[in-house]
Amino acid sequence: MIDILAISGSLRAASTNSALLASVARNAPPGCTISIYDGLGRLPIFNPDDEGEHTPPEASRLIEAVTSADGIIVSCPEYAHGVPGGMKNALDWLVSRDAAVGKPAMLVHASPRSLYARAALAEIMRTMSFALYEDALLEIALLGKKPPEVEAILAGPENVLAMREAVQAFVGFIQAR
Ligand SMILES: Cc1cc2nc3c(=O)[nH]c(=O)nc-3n(C[C@H](O)[C@H](O)[C@H](O)COP(=O)(O)O)c2cc1C
Repeated sequence: MIDILAISGSLRAASTNSALLASVARNAPPGCTISIYDGLGRLPIFNPDDEGEHTPPEASRLIEAVTSADGIIVSCPEYAHGVPGGMKNALDWLVSRDAAVGKPAMLVHASPRSLYARAALAEIMRTMSFALYEDALLEIALLGKKPPEVEAILAGPENVLAMREAVQAFVGFIQAR
């Protein structure tokens, strides 16, 4: 069984990125479970002085969740041409650890825009030594849609298939390592 951790970079209750990940999790291919990390908003702001024995409990929970996952999937909005602070903060807690090193990771996209954030996130994650899987592109345009429409789009057979195929390809990448 392949266990994947999904992290949404948005804290909005009606987040399209979170909805995409929930749908990706529901449609996981056989032999794969996807759990959602829900602690982004509880993480204290990263401070190197708080590492080691001072590591805050929520940061430890994130580090353990990433460490024990076989891979991670991130879906993240763009704010002002950058990666939202909450997402960058979560990644900062993982920098001086082994959690990210060689950990398979894939980005998925809920907006057809956000090209700056995509590039920045990929650069950050490669720098952290995540094994970034970039051969499958999963992009479902949910930008600006309200929850009922989001759910209808995500339930579309072509999108369910696209989600399954992207995760299956990522699972293949994980298994080949
Ligand atoms: C403060 C703020 C800044 C934003 N800046 C950008 C931007 O620079 N580029 C872009 O494509 N979208 C931008 N957006 C739009 C969000 O990326 C977009 O609404 C995204 O789909 C929200 O994701 P969510 O539904 O998961 O919260 C911005 C939104 C907010 C709230």
